[in-house]
Amino acid sequence: MRIIFLGPPGSGKGTQAHLISNQYNIPNISTGTMLRQSFPKNPYQPHNIQKNVINAMHTGNLVNDDFIVQLINRRINKNDCCNGFLLDGFPRTILQAEFMNKYKIFVNYIIEFVVSDSIVINRITGRRIHVDSGRTYHTQFNPPKIYGLDDITGESLTTRKDDCEQAIRKRLNNYYQYTEPVLDYYRNESKSKKIKYFSIDGNRKITEIYEELISLLTNK
Ligand code: AP5
Repeated sequence: MRIIFLGPPGSGKGTQAHLISNQYNIPNISTGTMLRQSFPKNPYQPHNIQKNVINAMHTGNLVNDDFIVQLINRRINKNDCCNGFLLDGFPRTILQAEFMNKYKIFVNYIIEFVVSDSIVINRITGRRIHVDSGRTYHTQFNPPKIYGLDDITGESLTTRKDDCEQAIRKRLNNYYQYTEPVLDYYRNESKSKKIKYFSIDGNRKITEIYEELISLLTNK
């Protein structure tokens, strides 16, 4: 099973990606998480490429296409992807989608999460993350068992630097400008190729969305 999750920031892609990849035992490949995990532990010693990536992410801009495509290419060629994968947040530009076609990386499902801007802002401002695993929590909607700590490791949770209002607005604008054309691209592809395209209402509860996803993915 090869799945792509697309949707605005804070739409719940990452939350559902963890659940679905566990359910189907496929790797969960989130470009955002991979980039955050590559940040140097000492923030004062990044080299130039890392500085550009960190700067783009913290200000809510997209990271350079070539860099992202290389990152995905290396990851998708690993053995654990041979039975499928779930891509969370990739491709998010037309150039990235064309890269998939060029290298014959085919997918079965495109899932679009549709969520209103006001809900996005609410979700993002309460988000807390565990960087090493990519696990995500929300202070109100999805709190950890112990306040401020990851459920599995007990390590501290943090707030993402790009979860501030200014960067959120920028990320939303980027979504409408660069990623919505990718949705059109796949809607079109789904007419002729064996791709199933589903838009789901992401404004609902985590469990309701999860149940709908399972139903869509199992009723092949
Ligand atoms: P990335 O990390 O992918 O961020 P994003 O796309 O902006 O998406 P988010 O992680 O903000 O949201 P999400 O939809 O995963 O929501 P989540 O499940 O966490 O990318 C970050 C940056 O990296 C980009 O801005 C860019 O700079 C760079 N980048 C990454 N990929 C790139 C690419 N392909 N090309 C170029 N640059 C790239 O949920 C949000 C919150 O809501 C959580 O607190 C969660 O607990 C809660 N929540 C989730 N679902 C629900 C629900 N149903 N009800 C209530 N609360 C919920």
